Amino acid sequence: MKNNKDKQITLFKNLESTPFTYGTIIFNKEKFVCFLKGINNQNNPSLLKNKVIDLKEIISFPKSDREGLLNIDPNGDTISLRRDVLISELGQILEARTLERAKYYLKRLENGVQKVKTSKVNDINLLRWKEYDEIITDSLWILDKRDSSGAHLAWYWGNFVPQIPHQMMLRYTKKGDWVLDTFAGSGTTLIECRRLGRNGIGIELNPEVVQRANELVKMEYNKYKVITEIITGDSRVIDIKAVLGKHGMDQVQLLIMHPPYHDIIKFSKDKKDLSNAKSTKEFLKMFSEVVDNATLFLEKGRYFILVIGDKYSKGEWIPLGFYCMNEILKKGYLLKSIIVKNFEATRGKRNQKELWRYRALVGGFYIFKHEYVMLFKRK
Ligand SMILES: C[S@@+](CC[C@H](N)C(=O)[O-])C[C@H]1O[C@@H](n2cnc3c(N)ncnc32)[C@H](O)[C@@H]1O
Repeated sequence: MKNNKDKQITLFKNLESTPFTYGTIIFNKEKFVCFLKGINNQNNPSLLKNKVIDLKEIISFPKSDREGLLNIDPNGDTISLRRDVLISELGQILEARTLERAKYYLKRLENGVQKVKTSKVNDINLLRWKEYDEIITDSLWILDKRDSSGAHLAWYWGNFVPQIPHQMMLRYTKKGDWVLDTFAGSGTTLIECRRLGRNGIGIELNPEVVQRANELVKMEYNKYKVITEIITGDSRVIDIKAVLGKHGMDQVQLLIMHPPYHDIIKFSKDKKDLSNAKSTKEFLKMFSEVVDNATLFLEKGRYFILVIGDKYSKGEWIPLGFYCMNEILKKGYLLKSIIVKNFEATRGKRNQKELWRYRALVGGFYIFKHEYVMLFKRK
């Protein structure tokens, strides 16, 4: 058990710093750039390739570094690169069929060392995109383990796996950005905010849950000194302007919503709770009110993430996910992606696997094994 936990911690430990958590090699930046330029000035293909082979040798056996590429000057700049990616890039240069191609790859490598190119919505250095292989870009997510490291204790029935907000923040926020989660529950999003250096505000209806969640969120090390706060309120009507204004902000850069999947789990007896909506129609109306209340505070061009599953009622599949998606599209958002994520048995169902299989066979339906992570962009 302990071993498994350790593995998970290593697996998901601060993915944000991807390039630096793998086997990395640290170069004296000035010398490395100079060395790369030297190779690129070489017009004899064999000599050029020999130089690349020398570099590969230095990376594999640092003691063979006669060029001083790995001599770190205390006052000089360093560059840290993922060893496996660098070796593969050098391999590509060695395999290039023409001198021009080899020089092109070398120039690309030099650019990645010298420059940083990011988009408006995240900190991913596109010149070193190959180093971010933990960032998922496929629309089918099969996550076999939830991240249960640090304050992620999974105590709340109906929480989402931390990998969801984690992945979303890496793709759609920059360090220091603000994230709003209008159904904060146990604060999974806020814990991830602390890990990744994003400020986060959560809104949650149930005051007892808010109290426990805030206590746990505070247990997570706040390396980047960000603000993370969950407040009690009804997300349909809470004054978000005032909530953000308290921190001198008027907009957020990421909006996350993980509402109840209607009445699948009853979160409270409160009428304001979406899980107590009397019908699908009423649920959608309440959900739509939350979207209306929050939309104005999402910066234009930024992302809105909806995490939701469907439900089954009286012999009928209710596509809550697509209904909610439609509510959001009606507000003028642009649909960017629909991710289908595997969904493992909830606590309620875990011991009833066989019963559910029997029910499925009798009732002619399929057992839910997926939920959706839908991505929208504010126009
Ligand atoms: C699916 S859970 C969210 C879980 C959360 N993502 C986590 O990881 O713990 C939905 C939450 O929405 C809350 N909720 C329901 N109606 C609400 C409302 N009108 N305003 C704010 N929160 C509400 C529930 O109390 C519940 O905690």
